[in-house]
Order: sequence, then structure tokens, then C-alpha cells
Amino acid sequence: MSSSNRRETPPATGDLKNGVVSEDSSQRQSQLVTVVVAPSQNQRLRLNPNKDHKPESYEDLQLDFSPSIFSSLERYLPPTMLGVKRDEKAKFMREILLKYLPHGERTRVQRHREYRQKIISNYQPLHRELYTMHPTTFFVPSFLKAISDNTEQSFRNIISEPSPGVFTFEMLQPRFCELLLAEVENFEKWVNEAKFRIMRPNTMNKYGAVLDDFGLETMLDKLMESFIRPLSKVFFAEVGGSTLDSHHGFVVEYGKDRDVDLGFHVDDSEVTLNVCLGKQFSGGELFFRGTRCEKHVNTGSQSEEIFDYAHVPGRAVLHRGRHRHGARATTSGHRINLLLWCRSLRLDVYSINQNLIMLPFGKHDFTCPWDALAYNVADILCISLVIGIWNSNPIAFWSPFVPYSIFREMKRYQKDFSTWCGECSREKKERQRLSIATTRSELLRREGESTA
Ligand SMILES: [Fe+2]
Ligand SMILES: [Zn+2]
Repeated sequence: MSSSNRRETPPATGDLKNGVVSEDSSQRQSQLVTVVVAPSQNQRLRLNPNKDHKPESYEDLQLDFSPSIFSSLERYLPPTMLGVKRDEKAKFMREILLKYLPHGERTRVQRHREYRQKIISNYQPLHRELYTMHPTTFFVPSFLKAISDNTEQSFRNIISEPSPGVFTFEMLQPRFCELLLAEVENFEKWVNEAKFRIMRPNTMNKYGAVLDDFGLETMLDKLMESFIRPLSKVFFAEVGGSTLDSHHGFVVEYGKDRDVDLGFHVDDSEVTLNVCLGKQFSGGELFFRGTRCEKHVNTGSQSEEIFDYAHVPGRAVLHRGRHRHGARATTSGHRINLLLWCRSLRLDVYSINQNLIMLPFGKHDFTCPWDALAYNVADILCISLVIGIWNSNPIAFWSPFVPYSIFREMKRYQKDFSTWCGECSREKKERQRLSIATTRSELLRREGESTA
């Protein structure tokens, strides 16, 4: 089977985009010749997040980027920065984000932030209890217990894995689903009445709404941090599951006068949570066709990778963003699903660093100490990305602009390359089989020679 190489991406989010080489990357390259002033030597970001550090909340500050990005980035700050005042940390991080984000991206992020601000100051929520996390009223008891026990066994007790990499479990209370459906309906009514422009959740869905846009961002952050990350740490560690730190939360709507089906694609996420909220419907099955790296995204599926899942309200499906999937037509009724694309900043930092990676081949002067320093920082930052990025998005390294050290690091991590890609694993097995067969025939040949 061949797939169209589509990647479902949000049209614009307050968060940073994943390190996707987008169509406009050629334009970006030409914009990226500006030499940036890099932080000084002792202000380098860490290679890995400091997991023991509890970041501050930036919710109450007026910032150009999502407060959750600041909280996430704080874990990457150099040790000397951790003790300073929150304002100073915010300023430092803001400078990094502003300098290393391409100008177009920066404007987009800024515009989206204003859009969100406008909604939040005008929209009157229907059910305020949805806007802060109340685990006992949101989740079913079995799910709560598994999460609080927090062991692989406790997760396995409630989760089934009907196909490799696809995990399903009972999650949401019927009452929570009802309230959320009513809230979404209320929001859409308000949008229509106020003649407000609604931003759709991604490039593929024509209906639905971004929950983060009307105030649910904090609650969904909590959902990711306290409930999805523990599961992802166990089941998706190799794609950054243990460092999930930002999200894109939305609902999609299928049925009459809504989207009918959804084409074959991969998500712009490390890990995707998909929960059916209701209502009455038939059809709309999710079809899965195996996880693939960028290089193999259009390869065929093995029979064991072909899996169809029928949605049940309240029941969640958890899978890697790179697990290829689509949705069959919802043939009657109305189906609404909650989606949470969970991401790891470790990968997102790539887009910030794209600037720096390009530096050595822009108007670059190695005799200039700033350039040399920037180059150095690019090196360090990129190495930290290789671990996460190389596994999930090797195409990001297509360019001749990549400094030598990246190739060196790539080689080092290549042995782990895409352990989760079905096609990489198949190729590896095939190579092993061939080499065993060759050795065997060589041995037989020698044996024949010696007995002749
Ligand atoms: Fe998807
Ligand atoms: Zn592969």
C-alpha cells in the first residue's frame, strides 16, 4: 500500500512547531544569513533537561510565547541561571526564543497569542469546572489508580495493546465527556454570534476547535504532565515520551455537515492521545498501518501492522505521532474526539536552532569571535537534539548546512536509529538473515574444500 506523505500540522499554535522541514524551508534558508549574538560561554543551555528542577509558572506574565514553553525551557537553563529571579529567567529565555526563531514564525506566534488573548478576555465559559484539573470527576477510577500506582504493571492492568504501539484504555467519565461537548458547542455558538474567526485544529480538519484557544491550555497541560507523560515514559521512551512538555489540544467533529473521514497521515507530535467523547455514530474507525521514520513513511505495511480500531466514548487510544493512521467515514450520527498532540521541547528546540545550523554557510566570518561563538553554541545545542530528532525526523539533517560534528553525533546514535520504525527493523532483520546465510554458505564451502 502506498500512502500520501501527509503530515497533519496545526495551522498556527502558540507553541513552537516541531522540527519539520516545511515547504518554506528554502525561503528560510535565504533569510537565515543574519549573524546572531549568542549567549556567552557560561550561559549555554543544558544538553538534557534537568528533570529534578521544578520550573516556575509563567502564567501570570505577559509574554510573547506560551507560558508552558517558558516552564519547559527553564529545565534546559544553565545551572547558574536557575537561582536568579523569575523575570530575569523569562527575559533570558525570551531572548533565546526571539533570536533563534525565524522572523515569519515569530510573527505567526505573536499573532496567534493575540488571537488567543482576545478570545479568553471575551468568551464566557459554560462549565468552569472543566478549566482546572479535577482528576476524580474527569477520569474513571481504574485509570486513576493505575496512574497513582505508577508502575508498568499497573498500566498494563488497564491497558490493552491490540496492535504493536497502539494502546487503548478506559479513561474519561461520561459526565466529563458531556460537559466538554457542551462547552465546545457553547464556544462554537459564541464564535458564530460574535462573528469571530475560528482557527481550525490542523491542516486536515475543516471542523473542530482548538481547546487551548479558549482557556483549556492549563488544564490540558496538567493532563499531559500528570497522566500522559507517565504512560509515555514507559511505552514511548525512545521518541521522547519521558520529556513531553508541550501540547496542542483540540476536538475534531465528524458526521453530517462536518468532516466525513480523515486521510492517511502522521501527526505533528511525539505521542498522540485520542479519546472519543461521543455522541451517537456509526463508522469512523481509526485505521493504523505501522510506525515509520521519515525515510520510510511511504513504504508498505506488514500484515501484523494492519489494525482497525472502533471508537467507544470515554475510551482512549495512545500512539506515537509517527504511527501512520487515518479515520474511516463516519456514516451516520455525529462523532467528536478529543485530541492531545504531546511534544517534547527537545525536538522543538530544533526549529530555534535551525538558525544556528545555517550560520556557518551564511555571511559567516570565522575570524569574528561572535560568529565563532555562535557556531560553537550551534554545535552544542544541536548535539542535544540529535538524540531525539535523529530518531523521529532524520530528514531534518538533509542539508549540507549541517556542521561536521552533527554527522559525528549522528553516527554515534545511528545504531539506535528508528528502533520504532517497522521498515528499519525489517531491513535490519533482512541484513542479519543475509549475513548469516553468507557465513553459513562460506563455512559449508570451506568444509567441502577440506573434505575434498
Ligand atoms: Fe492524526
Ligand atoms: Zn525507517
